[in-house]
Amino acid sequence: MSKQKSGKESHAKPGQKPWSGRFEEGTERRFEQFSASIAFDSRLYAEDIECSLAHAEALARAGVISGAERKKIAAGLAQIRDEIRGGKFEWQVSLEDVHMNIEARLVELVGETGKKLHTGRSRNDQVATDLRLYSRARSDALRSAIHGLQSGLVDVAEREAGTVMPAFTHLQAAQPVSFGHHMLAWFEMLQRDDLRLLDLRKRINVLPLGSAAGAGTSYPLDRQHVAELLGFESVSGNSLDAVSDRDFAIESCFACAMIMMHLSRMCEEIVLWCSPQFGFVGLPDRFCTGSSMMPQKKNPDAAELIRGKSGRVYGDLMSLLTVMKAQPLAYNRDNQEDKEALFDAFDTALDCVHIMHGVTASLTVNRRRLQDVLAHGFTTATDLADYLVAQGVPFRDAHRIVGEAVRLAVKKGGGLDGLSRREMEALHPALSGDEAAAVLSPEHSLQTKSTWGGTAPEQVRKQIGLAREHLAQAGGERERD
Ligand code: ARG
Repeated sequence: MSKQKSGKESHAKPGQKPWSGRFEEGTERRFEQFSASIAFDSRLYAEDIECSLAHAEALARAGVISGAERKKIAAGLAQIRDEIRGGKFEWQVSLEDVHMNIEARLVELVGETGKKLHTGRSRNDQVATDLRLYSRARSDALRSAIHGLQSGLVDVAEREAGTVMPAFTHLQAAQPVSFGHHMLAWFEMLQRDDLRLLDLRKRINVLPLGSAAGAGTSYPLDRQHVAELLGFESVSGNSLDAVSDRDFAIESCFACAMIMMHLSRMCEEIVLWCSPQFGFVGLPDRFCTGSSMMPQKKNPDAAELIRGKSGRVYGDLMSLLTVMKAQPLAYNRDNQEDKEALFDAFDTALDCVHIMHGVTASLTVNRRRLQDVLAHGFTTATDLADYLVAQGVPFRDAHRIVGEAVRLAVKKGGGLDGLSRREMEALHPALSGDEAAAVLSPEHSLQTKSTWGGTAPEQVRKQIGLAREHLAQAGGERERD
């Protein structure tokens, strides 16, 4: 990416800026720096050029510029794109932002014709258009990163569909579930994130260009055609709203914040699971770091960092909501403050989803340790109560009887399978047989949870099939785009 050349950051004389006609003195040095957005909005250059190419075509179709002039402008813009890509473009703080930097260079390259490009356009509809193009591309990229993470989770789910682990409530071992089922719970969270982004795409994909400074324009620009050129699904219906609306940016931050919340929950579990106290999973060295002092340490920093970064994305969302909250119609310069938060939310979420893909795909599962925890956590007590229900005992009574059995086992310092037949019989005659003992196995428990969406491996495999179908469909859609 091109850097600002320090020599060019000097105090601008009136006359250098495109809007200088009405001004007698130059901009105060500190204020010039303060008001410039070029340090961060230069990354919108590709969108800005795309937007200008479409606008030039609209001007030519409307007869405002000639076909030859349009070509000249397009060639100049193509050269500017190359200069920026090649790191040869000199960004100037005195030209405030990406829009005026590119326009000034265009005039330098193609002369008088370049000065016609901004006819019937304002930076207000220009920046709104750029930002929508940017948000569309980033949210599409985020969706495909999510699909990658999801498909990694489905692979783990398939491998571990029959692996039994404790499900937790209140962070206490509750009932046996399939490890694959747990992976698919994560998949579901991401599935909602994916669909949220897809739904949001419609609201991002509306063309503001043609709204000019806020009143619309007197030039007969074919906005529908511009929308088609830029791949927008619809054209904004109110010029005042179009230049000032940043709902799509706020919603994008929200979608990223929700993704981060989900990733953070997953990370919290990974951090717990790979602690020696849990010992459920191992993380490969490549996603861990050591301690500068304690030689034995291998810390799950990738997961902790993702968990930590959720905070900054929530901050991005709050900052955008606050930027917008008291703005009267239509465009106000406050809106310039939308970019860094939006960029950061997308950057962070994208990075985290990619890292999370690597982390989850490389988890190793310690099945023996999971068995151990299951054996000591009374996780099949509910199954035993259900067994009594099958023998005709009302559930409330069954619950109390098994509760008493647990109390006795805790006193004896073992599990339910450590109670003698006589002790069981004293609690309820149906508890003393082999059938009751068989119910205590976690594998048995798993098999019985066969309602739709339950944890029986056969159900988990059904959900894996559906997940794979969905991902294949999403991949197909991506290819068509
Ligand atoms: N840099 C400005 C922004 O990010 C561009 C629009 C400026 N418009 C204006 N009327 N000052 O919002």
